[in-house]
Amino acid sequence: MSSISFPKDFTWGVATASYQIEGAWNTEGKGESIWDRFSHTPGKIQNNENGDVACDHYHRWPEDIALMKSLNVQAYRFSLSWPRIFPEGSGQINQPGLDFYSRLVDGLLDAGITPYITLYHWDLPQRLQEEGGWPARSTAEAFVAYTDEVTRQLGDRVKNWITLNEPYVSAYIGYLEGRHAPGHRNIDEMLSAAHHLLLAHGWSVQPIRENVGEANVGVVLNLSPFVPASPSKEDADQARIGDGIVNRWYLDPLAGRGYPEDIREHYDHGEEYVQPDDMEIITAPIDFMGVNYYFRSIARSESIPEEENEPREVFHNDEFTEMGWEVHADGLADILERVHVDYSFPELLVTENGAAYDDALDKNRQVNDTKRIDYLKGHVRACGRAIEKGVPLKGYFVWSFLDNFEWAFGFSKRFGLVYVDFETLERIPKHSATLYRDIIRHGGLMLD
Ligand code: FCB
Repeated sequence: MSSISFPKDFTWGVATASYQIEGAWNTEGKGESIWDRFSHTPGKIQNNENGDVACDHYHRWPEDIALMKSLNVQAYRFSLSWPRIFPEGSGQINQPGLDFYSRLVDGLLDAGITPYITLYHWDLPQRLQEEGGWPARSTAEAFVAYTDEVTRQLGDRVKNWITLNEPYVSAYIGYLEGRHAPGHRNIDEMLSAAHHLLLAHGWSVQPIRENVGEANVGVVLNLSPFVPASPSKEDADQARIGDGIVNRWYLDPLAGRGYPEDIREHYDHGEEYVQPDDMEIITAPIDFMGVNYYFRSIARSESIPEEENEPREVFHNDEFTEMGWEVHADGLADILERVHVDYSFPELLVTENGAAYDDALDKNRQVNDTKRIDYLKGHVRACGRAIEKGVPLKGYFVWSFLDNFEWAFGFSKRFGLVYVDFETLERIPKHSATLYRDIIRHGGLMLD
Protein backbone atom coordinates (compact mmCIF):
# COMPACT_ATOMS: atom_id res chain seq x y z
CA MET A 1 0.00 0.00 0.00
CA SER A 2 1.21 3.47 -0.77
CA SER A 3 2.07 5.73 2.14
CA ILE A 4 0.74 8.81 0.38
CA SER A 5 -2.16 10.37 2.18
CA PHE A 6 -4.44 12.97 0.70
CA PRO A 7 -6.49 15.38 2.80
CA LYS A 8 -10.02 14.17 3.57
CA ASP A 9 -11.56 17.06 1.66
CA PHE A 10 -9.41 16.51 -1.46
CA THR A 11 -11.56 16.61 -4.61
CA TRP A 12 -11.30 13.82 -7.20
CA GLY A 13 -12.80 14.77 -10.53
CA VAL A 14 -12.90 14.32 -14.27
CA ALA A 15 -12.84 17.00 -16.97
CA THR A 16 -14.24 17.62 -20.45
CA ALA A 17 -14.98 20.61 -22.71
CA SER A 18 -18.12 21.54 -24.63
CA TYR A 19 -16.88 21.41 -28.22
CA GLN A 20 -15.01 18.16 -27.61
CA ILE A 21 -18.00 16.14 -26.37
CA GLU A 22 -21.38 17.80 -26.89
CA GLY A 23 -22.10 17.55 -30.61
CA ALA A 24 -25.52 19.14 -31.39
CA TRP A 25 -23.56 21.89 -33.08
CA ASN A 26 -26.62 23.64 -34.51
CA THR A 27 -29.38 22.28 -32.29
CA GLU A 28 -32.01 24.32 -30.42
CA GLY A 29 -30.79 27.72 -31.49
CA LYS A 30 -27.05 27.28 -30.92
CA GLY A 31 -24.91 29.75 -32.86
CA GLU A 32 -21.76 28.91 -34.81
CA SER A 33 -18.43 28.90 -32.94
CA ILE A 34 -14.94 29.44 -34.31
CA TRP A 35 -14.39 25.70 -33.89
CA ASP A 36 -17.46 24.90 -36.00
CA ARG A 37 -16.13 27.19 -38.70
CA PHE A 38 -12.54 25.91 -38.43
CA SER A 39 -13.45 22.21 -38.42
CA HIS A 40 -15.79 22.71 -41.39
CA THR A 41 -12.90 24.20 -43.35
CA PRO A 42 -11.20 21.41 -45.36
CA GLY A 43 -7.62 20.67 -44.37
CA LYS A 44 -7.69 22.09 -40.86
CA ILE A 45 -8.44 18.90 -38.88
CA GLN A 46 -6.94 15.43 -39.27
CA ASN A 47 -9.18 13.41 -41.62
CA ASN A 48 -11.38 16.52 -41.92
CA GLU A 49 -13.27 15.43 -38.81
CA ASN A 50 -15.42 17.79 -36.78
CA GLY A 51 -17.38 18.05 -33.53
CA ASP A 52 -20.85 18.10 -35.15
CA VAL A 53 -21.78 14.94 -33.24
CA ALA A 54 -18.68 14.18 -31.13
CA CYS A 55 -19.84 12.06 -28.13
CA ASP A 56 -23.41 13.38 -28.47
CA HIS A 57 -23.21 14.31 -24.81
CA TYR A 58 -25.90 16.93 -25.49
CA HIS A 59 -28.40 14.08 -25.72
CA ARG A 60 -26.65 11.40 -23.65
CA TRP A 61 -25.80 13.41 -20.53
CA PRO A 62 -28.03 11.38 -18.18
CA GLU A 63 -26.11 8.23 -19.14
CA ASP A 64 -22.83 10.10 -18.70
CA ILE A 65 -23.73 11.32 -15.23
CA ALA A 66 -24.76 7.79 -14.22
CA LEU A 67 -21.41 6.52 -15.45
CA MET A 68 -19.53 9.17 -13.47
CA LYS A 69 -21.47 8.22 -10.39
CA SER A 70 -20.61 4.56 -10.86
CA LEU A 71 -16.93 5.59 -10.84
CA ASN A 72 -17.29 7.49 -7.53
CA VAL A 73 -16.41 10.74 -9.30
CA GLN A 74 -16.84 13.61 -6.86
CA ALA A 75 -16.56 16.59 -9.19
CA TYR A 76 -17.09 17.24 -12.88
CA ARG A 77 -15.29 20.04 -14.71
CA PHE A 78 -17.08 20.91 -17.96
CA SER A 79 -17.32 24.02 -20.09
CA LEU A 80 -20.23 26.05 -21.40
CA SER A 81 -20.55 26.66 -25.09
CA TRP A 82 -20.87 30.45 -25.25
CA PRO A 83 -22.64 30.43 -28.67
CA ARG A 84 -25.15 27.89 -27.38
CA ILE A 85 -26.25 30.55 -24.89
CA PHE A 86 -25.55 33.72 -26.90
CA PRO A 87 -25.66 32.65 -30.57
CA GLU A 88 -24.29 36.05 -31.64
CA GLY A 89 -21.89 36.33 -28.69
CA SER A 90 -23.91 39.10 -27.05
CA GLY A 91 -27.41 40.55 -27.11
CA GLN A 92 -30.25 38.07 -27.41
CA ILE A 93 -29.98 35.03 -25.11
CA ASN A 94 -30.96 31.57 -26.39
CA GLN A 95 -32.72 30.25 -23.31
CA PRO A 96 -32.91 26.58 -24.48
CA GLY A 97 -29.10 26.57 -24.58
CA LEU A 98 -28.79 27.73 -21.00
CA ASP A 99 -31.59 25.37 -19.94
CA PHE A 100 -29.50 22.46 -21.19
CA TYR A 101 -26.75 23.38 -18.72
CA SER A 102 -29.29 23.98 -15.99
CA ARG A 103 -30.61 20.43 -16.40
CA LEU A 104 -27.06 19.07 -16.48
CA VAL A 105 -26.24 20.88 -13.23
CA ASP A 106 -29.38 19.54 -11.55
CA GLY A 107 -28.53 16.04 -12.73
CA LEU A 108 -25.02 16.31 -11.32
CA LEU A 109 -26.23 17.61 -7.97
CA ASP A 110 -28.81 14.81 -7.76
CA ALA A 111 -25.99 12.33 -8.34
CA GLY A 112 -23.89 13.98 -5.61
CA ILE A 113 -21.32 15.31 -8.11
CA THR A 114 -20.00 18.86 -7.67
CA PRO A 115 -19.98 20.95 -10.85
CA TYR A 116 -16.93 23.03 -11.83
CA ILE A 117 -17.82 25.23 -14.78
CA THR A 118 -15.28 26.57 -17.27
CA LEU A 119 -16.74 29.65 -18.98
CA TYR A 120 -14.40 29.63 -21.95
CA HIS A 121 -12.81 26.50 -23.37
CA TRP A 122 -12.04 27.88 -26.85
CA ASP A 123 -15.40 27.86 -28.67
CA LEU A 124 -15.78 31.60 -29.25
CA PRO A 125 -18.99 32.68 -31.04
CA GLN A 126 -18.06 33.06 -34.72
CA ARG A 127 -19.88 36.40 -34.83
CA LEU A 128 -17.44 37.81 -32.26
CA GLN A 129 -14.51 36.55 -34.33
CA GLU A 130 -15.94 38.48 -37.26
CA GLU A 131 -15.94 41.56 -35.06
CA GLY A 132 -12.24 41.06 -34.32
CA GLY A 133 -12.09 38.04 -32.01
CA TRP A 134 -9.81 38.11 -28.97
CA PRO A 135 -7.48 40.70 -30.51
CA ALA A 136 -10.44 43.11 -30.06
CA ARG A 137 -11.14 44.56 -26.63
CA SER A 138 -14.90 44.33 -27.30
CA THR A 139 -14.66 40.51 -27.06
CA ALA A 140 -13.55 40.84 -23.44
CA GLU A 141 -16.53 43.13 -22.79
CA ALA A 142 -18.90 40.59 -24.37
CA PHE A 143 -17.36 37.87 -22.19
CA VAL A 144 -18.25 39.80 -19.04
CA ALA A 145 -21.90 40.19 -20.13
CA TYR A 146 -22.08 36.47 -20.93
CA THR A 147 -20.51 35.58 -17.59
CA ASP A 148 -22.90 37.88 -15.74
CA GLU A 149 -25.93 36.21 -17.32
CA VAL A 150 -24.89 32.60 -16.77
CA THR A 151 -23.73 33.16 -13.20
CA ARG A 152 -27.08 34.82 -12.45
CA GLN A 153 -28.92 31.76 -13.75
CA LEU A 154 -26.67 28.98 -12.47
CA GLY A 155 -24.97 30.64 -9.48
CA ASP A 156 -27.57 29.43 -7.02
CA ARG A 157 -26.39 25.86 -7.65
CA VAL A 158 -22.82 26.15 -8.98
CA LYS A 159 -20.13 27.54 -6.68
CA ASN A 160 -16.98 26.66 -8.61
CA TRP A 161 -16.20 28.86 -11.61
CA ILE A 162 -13.22 28.84 -13.96
CA THR A 163 -13.05 31.85 -16.25
CA LEU A 164 -10.65 30.63 -18.95
CA ASN A 165 -9.00 27.42 -20.05
CA GLU A 166 -5.38 27.89 -21.15
CA PRO A 167 -5.27 31.45 -22.50
CA TYR A 168 -1.77 30.67 -23.85
CA VAL A 169 -3.24 28.06 -26.18
CA SER A 170 -6.13 30.31 -27.27
CA ALA A 171 -3.74 33.15 -28.09
CA TYR A 172 -0.56 31.40 -29.26
CA ILE A 173 -1.91 28.41 -31.15
CA GLY A 174 -5.07 30.16 -32.39
CA TYR A 175 -3.62 33.53 -33.43
CA LEU A 176 0.10 32.88 -33.99
CA GLU A 177 0.69 29.25 -34.96
CA GLY A 178 -2.72 28.90 -36.63
CA ARG A 179 -3.11 25.22 -35.73
CA HIS A 180 -6.27 26.02 -33.76
CA ALA A 181 -9.30 28.18 -34.54
CA PRO A 182 -9.41 30.82 -35.84
CA GLY A 183 -6.18 29.75 -37.56
CA HIS A 184 -4.40 33.10 -37.80
CA ARG A 185 -0.64 33.72 -37.88
CA ASN A 186 0.03 37.18 -36.59
CA ILE A 187 2.16 38.13 -33.60
CA ASP A 188 0.30 41.38 -32.91
CA GLU A 189 -2.99 39.49 -32.85
CA MET A 190 -1.47 36.89 -30.53
CA LEU A 191 -0.24 39.49 -28.04
CA SER A 192 -3.46 41.49 -27.96
CA ALA A 193 -5.53 38.28 -27.78
CA ALA A 194 -3.53 37.15 -24.75
CA HIS A 195 -4.07 40.53 -23.09
CA HIS A 196 -7.81 40.64 -23.77
CA LEU A 197 -8.22 37.08 -22.51
CA LEU A 198 -6.53 38.07 -19.24
CA LEU A 199 -8.61 41.23 -19.09
CA ALA A 200 -11.82 39.22 -19.67
CA HIS A 201 -10.78 37.02 -16.77
CA GLY A 202 -10.08 39.93 -14.44
CA TRP A 203 -13.24 41.83 -15.33
CA SER A 204 -15.48 38.82 -14.74
CA VAL A 205 -14.25 37.92 -11.25
CA GLN A 206 -16.39 40.60 -9.64
CA PRO A 207 -19.74 39.75 -11.33
CA ILE A 208 -19.14 36.10 -10.48
CA ARG A 209 -18.70 37.02 -6.82
CA GLU A 210 -21.79 39.25 -6.93
CA ASN A 211 -24.00 36.58 -8.48
CA VAL A 212 -22.72 33.49 -6.67
CA GLY A 213 -22.86 33.08 -2.91
CA GLU A 214 -19.56 31.69 -1.55
CA ALA A 215 -18.09 31.57 -5.02
CA ASN A 216 -14.87 29.67 -5.61
CA VAL A 217 -13.27 31.43 -8.59
CA GLY A 218 -10.14 30.61 -10.54
CA VAL A 219 -8.49 30.40 -13.93
CA VAL A 220 -6.74 27.49 -15.64
CA LEU A 221 -3.27 27.65 -17.20
CA ASN A 222 -1.31 25.03 -19.11
CA LEU A 223 2.03 24.95 -17.31
CA SER A 224 5.22 23.07 -18.06
CA PRO A 225 8.63 23.10 -16.39
CA PHE A 226 11.36 24.05 -18.89
CA VAL A 227 14.64 22.16 -18.53
CA PRO A 228 17.77 23.17 -20.48
CA ALA A 229 19.18 20.33 -22.60
CA SER A 230 22.77 21.21 -21.67
CA PRO A 231 24.62 23.43 -19.21
CA SER A 232 25.36 25.90 -22.02
CA LYS A 233 24.25 29.51 -21.70
CA GLU A 234 22.31 29.18 -24.97
CA ASP A 235 20.14 26.33 -23.69
CA ALA A 236 19.64 28.06 -20.33
CA ASP A 237 18.43 31.15 -22.20
CA GLN A 238 16.13 29.05 -24.32
CA ALA A 239 14.62 27.51 -21.18
CA ARG A 240 14.11 30.94 -19.63
CA ILE A 241 12.40 32.24 -22.76
CA GLY A 242 10.19 29.15 -23.14
CA ASP A 243 9.20 29.44 -19.49
CA GLY A 244 8.47 33.11 -20.04
CA ILE A 245 6.33 32.62 -23.12
CA VAL A 246 4.27 29.71 -21.81
CA ASN A 247 4.22 30.15 -18.03
CA ARG A 248 5.26 33.60 -16.79
CA TRP A 249 3.41 35.64 -19.45
CA TYR A 250 0.20 34.51 -17.71
CA LEU A 251 1.27 33.78 -14.12
CA ASP A 252 3.06 37.10 -13.60
CA PRO A 253 0.20 39.45 -14.54
CA LEU A 254 -2.34 37.29 -12.69
CA ALA A 255 -0.13 37.59 -9.61
CA GLY A 256 0.12 41.37 -9.97
CA ARG A 257 3.61 41.60 -11.45
CA GLY A 258 2.76 42.76 -14.94
CA TYR A 259 4.22 41.15 -18.04
CA PRO A 260 7.75 39.76 -17.53
CA GLU A 261 10.41 42.25 -18.66
CA ASP A 262 12.68 39.72 -20.37
CA ILE A 263 9.83 38.42 -22.55
CA ARG A 264 8.62 41.92 -23.39
CA GLU A 265 12.15 42.52 -24.69
CA HIS A 266 12.09 39.19 -26.48
CA TYR A 267 8.86 40.06 -28.31
CA ASP A 268 9.89 43.68 -28.80
CA HIS A 269 6.42 44.63 -30.04
CA GLY A 270 4.10 47.54 -29.35
CA GLU A 271 1.79 47.19 -26.38
CA GLU A 272 -0.92 49.62 -27.45
CA TYR A 273 -3.50 47.12 -26.29
CA VAL A 274 -2.63 47.80 -22.62
CA GLN A 275 -4.80 50.59 -21.21
CA PRO A 276 -4.46 52.30 -17.82
CA ASP A 277 -5.72 50.11 -14.97
CA ASP A 278 -5.71 46.92 -17.07
CA MET A 279 -2.91 45.32 -15.07
CA GLU A 280 -4.77 46.09 -11.85
CA ILE A 281 -7.95 44.48 -13.23
CA ILE A 282 -6.07 41.34 -14.33
CA THR A 283 -4.79 40.77 -10.83
CA ALA A 284 -8.27 40.56 -9.25
CA PRO A 285 -7.93 38.17 -6.28
CA ILE A 286 -8.77 34.56 -7.15
CA ASP A 287 -9.46 31.59 -4.89
CA PHE A 288 -7.45 29.04 -6.83
CA MET A 289 -5.09 28.61 -9.73
CA GLY A 290 -5.91 25.64 -11.97
CA VAL A 291 -2.93 23.79 -13.44
CA ASN A 292 -3.19 21.65 -16.56
CA TYR A 293 -0.09 19.47 -16.73
CA TYR A 294 0.86 17.02 -19.47
CA PHE A 295 4.65 17.11 -20.01
CA ARG A 296 7.91 18.87 -19.24
CA SER A 297 9.69 20.82 -21.93
CA ILE A 298 13.34 20.22 -22.84
CA ALA A 299 14.77 23.51 -24.09
CA ARG A 300 17.33 23.34 -26.92
CA SER A 301 18.74 26.48 -28.44
CA GLU A 302 18.92 26.59 -32.21
CA SER A 303 21.19 29.62 -32.14
CA ILE A 304 24.36 27.55 -32.43
CA PRO A 305 24.94 24.25 -34.19
CA GLU A 306 24.20 21.15 -32.14
CA GLU A 307 27.81 19.96 -32.20
CA GLU A 308 29.02 23.25 -30.74
CA ASN A 309 26.57 23.03 -27.87
CA GLU A 310 27.96 19.92 -26.20
CA PRO A 311 27.57 18.20 -23.94
CA ARG A 312 23.84 17.96 -24.44
CA GLU A 313 22.36 16.25 -21.46
CA VAL A 314 20.85 12.91 -22.33
CA PHE A 315 17.35 12.63 -20.95
CA HIS A 316 16.76 8.98 -20.22
CA ASN A 317 13.17 8.54 -21.06
CA ASP A 318 11.67 6.49 -23.80
CA GLU A 319 8.11 6.76 -22.65
CA PHE A 320 5.89 8.94 -24.74
CA THR A 321 2.14 9.10 -25.19
CA GLU A 322 0.31 8.98 -28.52
CA MET A 323 0.60 12.77 -28.61
CA GLY A 324 4.39 12.37 -28.59
CA TRP A 325 4.41 13.94 -25.12
CA GLU A 326 7.05 12.67 -22.70
CA VAL A 327 5.71 10.86 -19.63
CA HIS A 328 7.35 12.63 -16.69
CA ALA A 329 5.34 12.60 -13.46
CA ASP A 330 8.01 14.43 -11.44
CA GLY A 331 7.34 17.45 -13.64
CA LEU A 332 3.88 17.73 -12.13
CA ALA A 333 5.26 17.89 -8.58
CA ASP A 334 7.94 20.34 -9.79
CA ILE A 335 5.50 22.75 -11.42
CA LEU A 336 3.07 22.65 -8.49
CA GLU A 337 5.86 23.44 -6.02
CA ARG A 338 7.22 26.17 -8.22
CA VAL A 339 3.83 27.86 -8.69
CA HIS A 340 3.25 27.71 -4.95
CA VAL A 341 6.68 28.99 -3.94
CA ASP A 342 6.90 31.72 -6.60
CA TYR A 343 3.30 32.94 -6.65
CA SER A 344 1.47 31.65 -3.52
CA PHE A 345 -2.10 31.63 -4.86
CA PRO A 346 -4.47 30.63 -2.02
CA GLU A 347 -5.09 27.14 -3.44
CA LEU A 348 -4.06 25.02 -6.42
CA LEU A 349 -6.05 22.45 -8.39
CA VAL A 350 -4.79 20.06 -11.04
CA THR A 351 -7.61 20.81 -13.48
CA GLU A 352 -6.32 18.49 -16.23
CA ASN A 353 -3.89 15.59 -16.36
CA GLY A 354 -4.02 12.47 -18.47
CA ALA A 355 -2.69 10.70 -21.53
CA ALA A 356 -3.68 9.58 -25.02
CA TYR A 357 -2.93 5.97 -25.93
CA ASP A 358 -3.80 3.79 -28.86
CA ASP A 359 -6.72 2.10 -27.10
CA ALA A 360 -8.76 -0.64 -28.72
CA LEU A 361 -11.46 -3.04 -27.62
CA ASP A 362 -10.20 -6.57 -27.06
CA LYS A 363 -12.25 -9.66 -27.93
CA ASN A 364 -14.13 -9.37 -24.65
CA ARG A 365 -14.95 -5.74 -25.48
CA GLN A 366 -12.62 -4.51 -22.76
CA VAL A 367 -9.88 -1.89 -22.92
CA ASN A 368 -6.90 -2.95 -20.84
CA ASP A 369 -5.07 0.38 -20.89
CA THR A 370 -2.12 -0.50 -18.69
CA LYS A 371 -0.04 2.48 -19.85
CA ARG A 372 -2.73 4.93 -18.79
CA ILE A 373 -3.00 3.12 -15.45
CA ASP A 374 0.74 3.59 -14.87
CA TYR A 375 0.51 7.19 -16.02
CA LEU A 376 -2.30 8.02 -13.60
CA LYS A 377 -0.67 6.25 -10.67
CA GLY A 378 2.58 8.11 -11.24
CA HIS A 379 0.91 11.50 -11.50
CA VAL A 380 -1.38 10.97 -8.50
CA ARG A 381 1.70 10.04 -6.49
CA ALA A 382 3.35 13.25 -7.69
CA CYS A 383 0.35 15.20 -6.34
CA GLY A 384 0.82 13.45 -3.00
CA ARG A 385 4.49 14.45 -2.91
CA ALA A 386 3.60 18.06 -3.63
CA ILE A 387 1.07 18.06 -0.78
CA GLU A 388 3.67 16.59 1.57
CA LYS A 389 5.94 19.49 0.66
CA GLY A 390 3.28 21.97 1.70
CA VAL A 391 1.59 22.78 -1.61
CA PRO A 392 -2.08 23.70 -0.96
CA LEU A 393 -3.33 21.32 -3.65
CA LYS A 394 -7.07 20.74 -3.23
CA GLY A 395 -8.08 18.54 -6.12
CA TYR A 396 -7.17 16.52 -9.19
CA PHE A 397 -9.20 16.17 -12.42
CA VAL A 398 -8.41 13.51 -15.00
CA TRP A 399 -8.45 14.59 -18.64
CA SER A 400 -10.66 13.17 -19.82
CA PHE A 401 -13.85 11.47 -18.73
CA LEU A 402 -14.63 10.33 -22.30
CA ASP A 403 -12.63 9.80 -25.47
CA ASN A 404 -13.45 12.90 -27.50
CA PHE A 405 -12.64 15.33 -30.31
CA GLU A 406 -8.99 16.25 -29.73
CA TRP A 407 -8.95 19.56 -31.64
CA ALA A 408 -6.68 19.49 -34.71
CA PHE A 409 -6.16 15.73 -34.21
CA GLY A 410 -9.85 14.94 -34.54
CA PHE A 411 -10.85 11.62 -33.01
CA SER A 412 -7.43 10.04 -33.47
CA LYS A 413 -6.27 10.65 -29.89
CA ARG A 414 -8.08 8.85 -27.10
CA PHE A 415 -7.67 10.48 -23.66
CA GLY A 416 -10.74 9.01 -21.92
CA LEU A 417 -11.17 6.88 -18.84
CA VAL A 418 -14.18 5.74 -20.85
CA TYR A 419 -13.82 4.40 -24.38
CA VAL A 420 -16.26 5.80 -26.92
CA ASP A 421 -17.16 3.86 -30.05
CA PHE A 422 -17.60 6.77 -32.44
CA GLU A 423 -19.78 4.66 -34.76
CA THR A 424 -22.38 3.64 -32.20
CA LEU A 425 -21.52 6.20 -29.48
CA GLU A 426 -21.46 3.37 -26.97
CA ARG A 427 -19.46 4.13 -23.79
CA ILE A 428 -17.21 1.40 -22.36
CA PRO A 429 -15.21 2.16 -19.18
CA LYS A 430 -11.55 1.26 -19.64
CA HIS A 431 -9.54 -0.53 -16.95
CA SER A 432 -8.12 2.86 -15.95
CA ALA A 433 -11.66 3.91 -15.00
CA THR A 434 -11.74 1.04 -12.50
CA LEU A 435 -8.37 2.12 -11.15
CA TYR A 436 -9.60 5.70 -10.74
CA ARG A 437 -12.77 4.48 -9.03
CA ASP A 438 -10.60 2.64 -6.51
CA ILE A 439 -8.22 5.58 -6.03
CA ILE A 440 -11.24 7.73 -5.16
CA ARG A 441 -12.76 5.09 -2.92
CA HIS A 442 -9.54 4.86 -0.94
CA GLY A 443 -8.89 8.59 -0.86
CA GLY A 444 -5.76 8.32 -2.97
CA LEU A 445 -4.39 5.29 -1.17
CA MET A 446 -4.00 1.79 -2.62
CA LEU A 447 -1.96 2.94 -5.54
CA ASP A 448 -0.12 -0.36 -5.89
C1 FCB B 1 -5.48 20.65 -23.15
C2 FCB B 1 -6.89 21.11 -23.43
C3 FCB B 1 -7.90 19.99 -23.49
C4 FCB B 1 -7.34 18.75 -24.16
C5 FCB B 1 -6.01 18.38 -23.58
C6 FCB B 1 -5.41 17.14 -24.17
O1 FCB B 1 -4.59 21.59 -23.66
O2 FCB B 1 -7.30 22.02 -22.44
O3 FCB B 1 -9.05 20.49 -24.12
O4 FCB B 1 -7.30 18.94 -25.51
O5 FCB B 1 -5.11 19.45 -23.74
